[in-house]
Amino acid sequence: MDSPAIRDSTVLVTGGAGFIGSHLVDALVPHNEVRVLDDFSTGDPAHLPDDATVIVGDVGDPIALQEAARGVDVIFHHAAVVSVTQSVDNPRQSNRTNLEAGLLVLEQARQEDARVVVASSAAVYGHPAELPVSEAAPTDPTSPYGVQKLALDEYARLYAELYDLPTVALRYFNVYGPRQRGPYSGVISTFLEQARADEPITIEGDGQQSRDFVHVSDVVRANLRAAATDAVGEAYNVGTGERTTIRELAETVRDATGSSSSIVHREPRPGDIRHSGADTTKTARELGFEARVGLESGIRSLVERDTGVPTRGDPEKAVELPGE
Ligand code: NAD
Ligand code: UD1
Repeated sequence: MDSPAIRDSTVLVTGGAGFIGSHLVDALVPHNEVRVLDDFSTGDPAHLPDDATVIVGDVGDPIALQEAARGVDVIFHHAAVVSVTQSVDNPRQSNRTNLEAGLLVLEQARQEDARVVVASSAAVYGHPAELPVSEAAPTDPTSPYGVQKLALDEYARLYAELYDLPTVALRYFNVYGPRQRGPYSGVISTFLEQARADEPITIEGDGQQSRDFVHVSDVVRANLRAAATDAVGEAYNVGTGERTTIRELAETVRDATGSSSSIVHREPRPGDIRHSGADTTKTARELGFEARVGLESGIRSLVERDTGVPTRGDPEKAVELPGE
């Protein structure tokens, strides 16, 4: 299923130097005028192609945002304080970026008559009562980060309803892929680092907790769909529909790397979600999106990139703009 065209448009990617945002920028740049607004708090300028116009600034600064958003057709809003721990330590500071700046983006989009695609999160569901979790399931976030994402996700819906602004909220599950790094990055990048160094792979708790791991190339394709859909004013799950336990993940990573790491267990993470998995029915039906990259091939391609072995069927190539 190919993504519909976004061509000859002027687009803004907030947080475009980050893990997910920079892959989206790469996909947009060949056919569009792309601007990036990023403060480089976790993003890396080295991830940005020369063809993108970079505005270094805070998305919560109305002047910087106004400059970046002038005349745009679509805003992909990815800038956020993504660390759940940081949001627990300082809820007001993360609220400023995750919610207040998000509202500013929606307001700016009204001025510009621009579409907005909001990066939301499976964190809005908290501990799901039923699996897989559908968009209609109760929302019960367990962290300030989740509350902030939920509020912005709801504002996006409301802006469509009240002001006829075309908005889409994408609720990402556990995203992984190249360029994910740093102290708050996901479990896959942590396990890969440990396995490469032949250090113990550290499972928190019994390892029977499960997640829906979605490759960043699929997340990019979901964004391209969201930029073109008529089904606006809605939130959509972005996952694969498959759940993997953390124990299985540790073994997959160890096998793929050929590492001699041991697999060890430490204390469970306080407040950890036990199971998380997306019901992808609505996203498939209304957005025409289905994930393509399975976990094993996604991990294999990450390993092959790092060892310099030529990659066959590189999942990154799954990011296709029409006509390519
Ligand atoms: P990331 O930290 O790599 O990217 C965030 C980007 O936003 C960075 O480039 C950072 O420098 C920038 N940024 C942060 N605060 C800013 C500010 N005030 N002004 C301007 N730029 C700012 O994280 P990511 O994993 O790429 O996440 C992108 C989005 O996807 C976030 O909104 C995140 O909440 C959401 N999300 C990610 C996941 C995941 O598994 N990675 C899951 C659910 C939702
Ligand atoms: C992730 C995202 C969060 C997003 C949510 C949506 C990251 C860092 N966080 O949270 O932004 O809102 O998905 O679904 O991507 N684990 C280990 N050992 C480790 C690291 C982690 O066992 O060294 C375990 C954790 O205890 C947890 C699981 O792996 O059970 C996943 O952890 P993590 O990658 O941090 O993601 P989430 O907490 O699910």
